[in-house]
Amino acid sequence: MIEPKDSKQQDGNAQTLTTRQGHPVSNNQNQRTVGTRGPATLENYQFLEKISHFDRERIPERVVHARGAGAHGVFKAYGKVGDESISKYTRAKLFQTEGKETPVFVRFSTVIHSGHSPETLRDPRGFAVKFYTEDGNWDLVGNNLKVFFIRDAIKFPDVIHSLKPDPVTNRQDGGRIFDFMSNTPEAMHMLTWLFSPWGIPANYRQMQGSGVNTYKWVNDKGEGTLVKYHFEPLQGVKNLTQPEAEEIQAKNINHATQDLYEAIERGDFPQWEMRVQLMSDGEHPELDFDPLDDTKIWPEDQFPMMPVGVMTLNRNPENYFAEVEQAAFGTGVLVDGLDFSDDKMLVGRTFSYSDTQRYRVGPNYLQLPINSPRAAVATNQRDGQMTYHVDAVPGQNPHVNYEPSSMNGPKEAPRNLPEHSPHVEGRVQRASIERTNDFKQAGERYRAHDERERDDLINNLVANISAAIPEVQARMVELFTKCDPDYGRRVNEGLRAARQAKEKQEGQREPQTV
Ligand code: HEM
Repeated sequence: MIEPKDSKQQDGNAQTLTTRQGHPVSNNQNQRTVGTRGPATLENYQFLEKISHFDRERIPERVVHARGAGAHGVFKAYGKVGDESISKYTRAKLFQTEGKETPVFVRFSTVIHSGHSPETLRDPRGFAVKFYTEDGNWDLVGNNLKVFFIRDAIKFPDVIHSLKPDPVTNRQDGGRIFDFMSNTPEAMHMLTWLFSPWGIPANYRQMQGSGVNTYKWVNDKGEGTLVKYHFEPLQGVKNLTQPEAEEIQAKNINHATQDLYEAIERGDFPQWEMRVQLMSDGEHPELDFDPLDDTKIWPEDQFPMMPVGVMTLNRNPENYFAEVEQAAFGTGVLVDGLDFSDDKMLVGRTFSYSDTQRYRVGPNYLQLPINSPRAAVATNQRDGQMTYHVDAVPGQNPHVNYEPSSMNGPKEAPRNLPEHSPHVEGRVQRASIERTNDFKQAGERYRAHDERERDDLINNLVANISAAIPEVQARMVELFTKCDPDYGRRVNEGLRAARQAKEKQEGQREPQTV
């Protein structure tokens, strides 16, 4: 057993500065030198330790979603879904009883640029929630927008590379982005959201959240129902046009982090209602989209949004690095009553998150307080870098780090409820889903935007696509025309006007004389 720390330093004063070995520091202003002017000596332990820890202060950034802000809070269940008992669909304990509270930690983020990039950039916003339930942790790793660029995880590194800075110039480049997108017709729906003001939420408090991928709920009988998760901000939704965002960015690159922190400090706690859409498990050939396709929304008139609880953020982190930077969310982190669907993005994500976290934070990232479940952990997984303690059952024989054992080791949990065990059959192959239907919902979204949103969408697309080669520009116009003829026409006209303006500008330039 590791002894608890003394509450006072050696000299009996709780204020005294020490080294990380607990030695009091009596001079923190000068390193040890020969005489007042040096040279310094290598046995300068206090100085060398201080500098070498500083040298290691940073861990790798998240490969995506590096820029973020987080807060603690609570989720309060309504105990039903619509007018029905929620137990009909899921046995997950956190949802069952009206008023039941589950602590949460939420991290919001932007996706593409690095840890201190402006929070006004056009980007999906991450909306990751960790529920510390009595059955262990549940992570719902979502975005503000309800759809995504691609529907197969194998394309994720490509879509992200196209959006990240050019590997030569180190600048984000509309020419590269739309080179990729023009060859990715399933991205049209996402682009129609992203290049409108919905691609720049005004702050983190006034944006929606969505699980995007399709999951399952499982009831006491082991029956599954397809489910999509949504968070609706009770503060309302507010988005920025490009000029509005630029005005903020000129003065403040941290406005969203600041807004969240200050609102919580003044007691103006942001809240989101959690809503779900349910669909019976199955392929649903009657629909013109595949329920496992994350480039599609489920139309609300057929699959209504049903409230299941409310989430309140009411406490700021005490330390950004320990709680926000080291927080690790993953789509594989589910509790009993919640399950995966066969969504081809979800399976790839589920591998990717914990894989990157073992690299980014370390193999024992789950022992850090922000990631560790509030429920007891008893596992025989041991050791590795930065092991903090042994995750054993109380009184466990310390010699037993395997299972099964008759010498007082952890035992398997009783199998009380039937597992959800769908029957799947088919040829193993590499193939796209059949109902791709890439343009219909994008066209519907284009028409559903109000005039301000549509104008901003066209301006932003034109500004970015103008950087692309003519072949890519033509293909983008063709794809938008398939979504809605007016959409294609307006982008085409905008691109033509941009080309003419450029030619005019170049023609006006004085010929250079030598
Ligand atoms: C972060 C992979 C799609 C939402 C990450 C990270 C990786 C990753 C490697 C960094 C995690 C870390 O360092 O802790 C993938 C892959 C995807 C995918 C492979 C597709 C196959 C999505 C989608 C969404 C999403 C569709 C939205 C529903 C997020 C969020 C974070 C994140 C919110 C930040 C979590 C945090 O705040 O720590 N993703 N992602 N990702 N991803 Fe994805």
